[in-house]
Amino acid sequence: MTITTGFSRLNRGQRIEYLIEHSKLDVENGYQLHDFDASEVENQKVFEGMVENYIGNFPVPMGIVANMVLNGESLAIPFVTEESSVIAAASKAAKFWAARGGFHAVVSSVTKKGQVHFTWNGIPEQIRKLFPEIRKKLLFSSGGLTQKMEQRGGGIKEIQLIDLTRELHNYYQLDVSFETAEAMGANFINSCLESLAAVLSNLSELNTADNHVEIIMSVLSNYTPDCRVNCHVECPVEALTGWSQNMTGRIFATKFRQAVDIANLNIQRAVTHNKGLFNGIDAVMLATGNDWRAAAASAHAYASKDGTYKGLTTIQLTDNQFRYELELPLALGTVGGITQIHPVVKKSMAIMNHPDAQKLMMIAAASGLANNFAAIASLITTGIQDGHMRMHLSNLLTQLHASQSEREFAVSHFSHKTVSYAAVENLICQIRNEI
Ligand code: MEV
Repeated sequence: MTITTGFSRLNRGQRIEYLIEHSKLDVENGYQLHDFDASEVENQKVFEGMVENYIGNFPVPMGIVANMVLNGESLAIPFVTEESSVIAAASKAAKFWAARGGFHAVVSSVTKKGQVHFTWNGIPEQIRKLFPEIRKKLLFSSGGLTQKMEQRGGGIKEIQLIDLTRELHNYYQLDVSFETAEAMGANFINSCLESLAAVLSNLSELNTADNHVEIIMSVLSNYTPDCRVNCHVECPVEALTGWSQNMTGRIFATKFRQAVDIANLNIQRAVTHNKGLFNGIDAVMLATGNDWRAAAASAHAYASKDGTYKGLTTIQLTDNQFRYELELPLALGTVGGITQIHPVVKKSMAIMNHPDAQKLMMIAAASGLANNFAAIASLITTGIQDGHMRMHLSNLLTQLHASQSEREFAVSHFSHKTVSYAAVENLICQIRNEI
């Protein structure tokens, strides 16, 4: 493809035509991009306004994890995911735990941070001495920006000076702590930081004939260890017997603990273990229009907080009791971003009875723990592929253009047989008398 200028000035149709002319996209597929438009004009306008260089919508299925009991309340959780086994796995775990007291979650803190990164060429001792006065001026200056957020219970909670001049020549941070109420808060935090940076670079005590502040950048940190949620499930060891017909609760618990221990000592396993958590967390983040990349980046950094990357869950197993816990940082919102404009997000929120941000943190954590529990439980009993491929069967049949009757025959055929691409292809060919 050649380098083009002015692509963003083209309208949607022209952009599709451009792609038909300059890429392998053919006319038929190009115009089929319209097939995924929202039927309501207003909704379609929302999608068209959400990104630059818009050409179409990309549908991803949404399903429900029913029977999720969280802190005693029974909830239906919308999951948006492309992976066929995710909802089935979370649903199985949700139902299993619903009969054993459900998921228990608590939000331990909601503070987020951002930094103004700057250099100052004076003596470090001097700026440290001046800082209490500077902090007062900075807090006073931010009043206009923070007023509304303060009315909602948020705002700037603290400003600290971090001296990093030993690490990098003349380098300091204004380390600012925020609470952002119902919002994820990225825009609020970044606006406050840019405003603080402007004040800092004009302070007469720091900007003299000899010394001056040079702002490098001002931005929130997606690492949110002080915006954290804990979620656990717990039951007598004997009650675990129900997961697998072929394993006692005691053996299940012992193998489960070994699997969690492995995730804590081996990065190869830890990453996959944590990915399983994000099957559920991301599905809820997507369904509610939240920034799943921020959540994943933060949690993976948190998984390395002790110096090595570990699983994010811990297990306590005594003679009688099994307790399995997830702790992770999670910054999300129920207002701001696309949360109030995306037409499907509104439906997700209604399905969950309009949770506030803290409750949504708990729902996402419980969803993650449900997926992770189901994954470990399958891995230590039947293995993962049986359930995974069974759920993937529908995709394989779609890929082979199976008719409704071929589909029904295949589903019944594979109800007690191992599913693989080769086996499904073979069966469809046999039905069609192609072999
Ligand atoms: C697949 O999406 C996720 C798992 O690999 C997670 C795990 O291994 O724990 C099943």
